[in-house]
Amino acid sequence: MQTFNAIKLAQQLLIDKVIMSKFLVDTTAGNGKDSLFLAQNSPIDAMVWSFDIQQTAILKTKELLSKYSLDDKVKLITDSHANIDQHINGKIDVAMFNLGYLPNAQHKITTQCQSTITALQKILGLLSIEGVISIIAYSGHQEGYLESKAVEELLTTLPSNIFTVGCWSMINHNNNPPILYIVEKMRGEAYESAAPQ
Ligand SMILES: C[S@@+](CC[C@H](N)C(=O)[O-])C[C@H]1O[C@@H](n2cnc3c(N)ncnc32)[C@H](O)[C@@H]1O
Repeated sequence: MQTFNAIKLAQQLLIDKVIMSKFLVDTTAGNGKDSLFLAQNSPIDAMVWSFDIQQTAILKTKELLSKYSLDDKVKLITDSHANIDQHINGKIDVAMFNLGYLPNAQHKITTQCQSTITALQKILGLLSIEGVISIIAYSGHQEGYLESKAVEELLTTLPSNIFTVGCWSMINHNNNPPILYIVEKMRGEAYESAAPQ
């Protein structure tokens, strides 16, 4: 049995933050597993926002949350994460991105480079001090390759006096294994990206 993979590791690395966080975001609801993780582990008065552009994903997430009686804690939003600022205007403590397509669904509905970067830039701007973002990127398909490159380019250039960024991947696996990035905001300086929004 494989003990480590990018999805499990993201949750393990985030758990200490999640248990103390009030405002949490799952930017790609999918089957709802990350939304459930955030809702189950955050304080009782925390609020989770979950975004997906596919109604199927939102319904699957709703169904999973209902099984655990956690529907009230999660605001499900059928919209692109690129529009996050139209739904949230306060600070964000934790945000999770699991890019790519919904497992067992149409591969053509996948996260896209431009909207992912827009969402990431907006969340970087809204991140609270000590807030964290996890991003799992998949470079094994065409759009995913462009997206992974753009994510890495943006994260590499984040000012190190404000953010710390790390990454993890399985380096002995073939077929472009996913890369997990973790971003932590250490100081209170405002972040304004130089890249177009
Ligand atoms: C790999 S799945 C996410 C898995 C999910 N985190 C889980 O735990 O089950 C990626 C999801 O991103 C969604 N997606 C694609 N583009 C999006 C966008 N612009 N905004 C929000 N969600 C998007 C897809 O519909 C898909 O459901």
